[in-house]
Order: sequence, then structure tokens, then C-alpha cells
Amino acid sequence: MTVVFKLDPQQPDSLILAKAAEILRRGGIVAFPTETVYGLGAVVFNEEAVKKIFWAKLRPPDNPLIIHICDVNMLNEVAVDIPDKARRLMEAFWPGPLTLILPRHPRVPKIVTSGLDTVAVRMPAHPVALGLIRETRAPIAAPSANLAGKPSPTSAEHVIRDLYNRIDAIIDAGETVHGVESTIIDILAEPPVLLRPGAYAVEDIEKVLGEKIAVPEFARGYREADIALAPGMKYRHYAPDTPLILVEPLSGSIESLKKTILTSALKYVKEGLKVCIVATRETASTYTSLPNSIILELGSRFNVFEIAKNLFKTLRSLDDLDCDVAVVEGVEERGLGLAVMNRLRKASKTVIKA
Ligand code: TXA
Ligand code: MG
Repeated sequence: MTVVFKLDPQQPDSLILAKAAEILRRGGIVAFPTETVYGLGAVVFNEEAVKKIFWAKLRPPDNPLIIHICDVNMLNEVAVDIPDKARRLMEAFWPGPLTLILPRHPRVPKIVTSGLDTVAVRMPAHPVALGLIRETRAPIAAPSANLAGKPSPTSAEHVIRDLYNRIDAIIDAGETVHGVESTIIDILAEPPVLLRPGAYAVEDIEKVLGEKIAVPEFARGYREADIALAPGMKYRHYAPDTPLILVEPLSGSIESLKKTILTSALKYVKEGLKVCIVATRETASTYTSLPNSIILELGSRFNVFEIAKNLFKTLRSLDDLDCDVAVVEGVEERGLGLAVMNRLRKASKTVIKA
């Protein structure tokens, strides 16, 4: 049985936080909200509990977990030899959606890091997540609280759908703020490397660092990652059951984007398939004339924050519509757009350029 606790995201009831923390301290696993997506947590030093996370999510053991801390003192329990560069980024961006790769403290079990000598650490900017870690009095290892391969959960309903009765408890504090996961930087590399684009734009992190961050092809969502560099990146992610066709706006022309989407969707309609078009507010009306099709709106093309926030929710809702195929409109790869395109490329079966 999974217990569901309801909490106010801004002023969480400390008695309920204490109850959830008690479940964690006794070796249980608890889903909780962060500012990005819901996480599925276990006390980082409890190997048996961490094993349950991999079991519940059906997560392959070579995909390491992110460790969540509530203050900088806690960092010393999980990492050693922290470089000055990392300190600067923590000061500027913590609490918040930035995950840093640091040398592993020997006390952190290898199951958490999939055998690596590094850890991925972040301090989430969410009163419930911070309160839960504080009450537990231990760092919490937590991947996103979805079944492996599915879009990450941005509400407790998503977690319930994937993991009900596979985990001990869920803390429901409503929808998350960002809707895409944290930005992961390998700060030990020279120059630092972006392992996963996320809710903080790389451009903003570079400003504080005062140097360029390398953006490998896999961070754009294109190619399988070098396993040693970015474990876990090789798996297909975020994919709804409905096959996705992503149309990338390469020329920068909205007209050509709309035309390519229409042509592609029409081809499927002619084959007798039911098509869903995942569009933006500015383009949605273009596709209304298409027969046997449904239109979903991600948000405004000019507000990529809104698109990121709605992304996983929209991908999940696709599967309730019973369509044979979905054609998705891509966005420009700037700022948060990089995180959105990374997720869409990984979720897609086919990528077409417009
Ligand atoms: O926003 C987030 O980051 C959310 C919330 C719950 O905090 N968490 C999240 O975790 O997205 P997850 O499991 O979906 O992604 C963790 C990823 C792994 O897939 C892996 O790529 C990377 O973090 N990672 C973890 N440890 C690493 C390490 N030592 N070296 C390189 N990458 C690592
Ligand atoms: Mg995940």
C-alpha cells in the first residue's frame, strides 16, 4: 500500500514532513515534489532502500542517481575535494535546478553512483523537498519518480499512475514549477561539460563561471552518450506509447515549419491513421482543417518557459487520446529551448528537419 500525503507546497505541515521522513529513515522509499519534477527518494547511505528505487522504477542499474541535500554542510557527507568553480556555481544557483558532478565521498554506496567515483549532487529549491531532507537528517538519493522510459512526473497524479503500490509514500504538493529536470554540469572536466540541459539555461551558468561550457552532441539529445561520461543518457527517455515524429525548425521560418508539419500529418491521415499534432498557440489554428486529427497546445512559441512546464504533461496526455501517431513542433535551441529539444529528440522515433 502506498500512503498519499497532501501538503501545501509553500508552507508544508511539519508533522506530515516528519511522518514521511520517518518512512525514509526506516528504509522506505518516498516520492516528493521538487521545483523541477517529482523525485523518488531513499536515504543515500541505506543500500537496501536505494535498491528498492531501482526495483520500483524498473531502472537499469547502470543509470546513477542524483543526491539531494538541504544545506552546504550536508555536501561534505557525500562529496570530497570540491573545486572553487563548483563553490561559485553553488553560491549563485543553489538552491535551484543545477546538479554538479563531484568526487564521491567513500561513504556513498556504489549502487547510488552505478560504480562511479563521482556523485551528482543538487540542492532543490522547494520547501517540501528541503523540509523532507532536513527532517530525515540525511542526504536523499532520488531519480525522477516515473517508470523508466516514461516522461518525468510533474504532478502527484503522474507518480500515482506509474508507481502506486510499488513505493511506500507519495507527497502530493501540486504541480511542479519548471517541468523539466535540473541542468547537469560535469564541473570536474576542463572545460566543464554539459551532461544534460535543464531548467537553468547554460548561457546563464556560463556567465557566472566566466568560461564556456562544452555542449556535446548527446546533450542536445542526438547521439548515445559515452557511457563513462554520462551514464544513463543512452536509454530512450520520456517516450509516450504513441510514436512521436519531431519536426525541427532548422531554417528558422515558421511558415516552412507549418508546411512540413501539415505535409507530414496529411501523409498519415491518408494512410487512415488518427494523428495528433502537438503545436504552439501561434500555429495551432493552421492545422484545424486536417481531418481525423487532434491538436494539443504546448504553450506560446515566444514563451519557452511555458512550453517546458507543459512538456511532460502533454506527452503523457497523448497516450489518453488513442492516436496512432503524433507530429510535434520543435522550438529554437536557445536558453531553455535546448532542454526542451533534448527531451523531444529523446522521446521521438523520427526527426524531420523543416
Ligand atoms: O531535476 C532533477 O534533476 C530530478 C529531480 C528529482 O531532482 N532528478 C532527475 O534524476 O532528473 P534522474 O534519475 O532522472 O536523472 C539522473 C541523471 C542520470 O540519468 C545520469 O545521467 C546523471 O543524473 N548522473 C547521476 N550521477 C552521475 C554521475 N556520477 N556522473 C554523471 N552523470 C550522473
Ligand atoms: Mg529521470
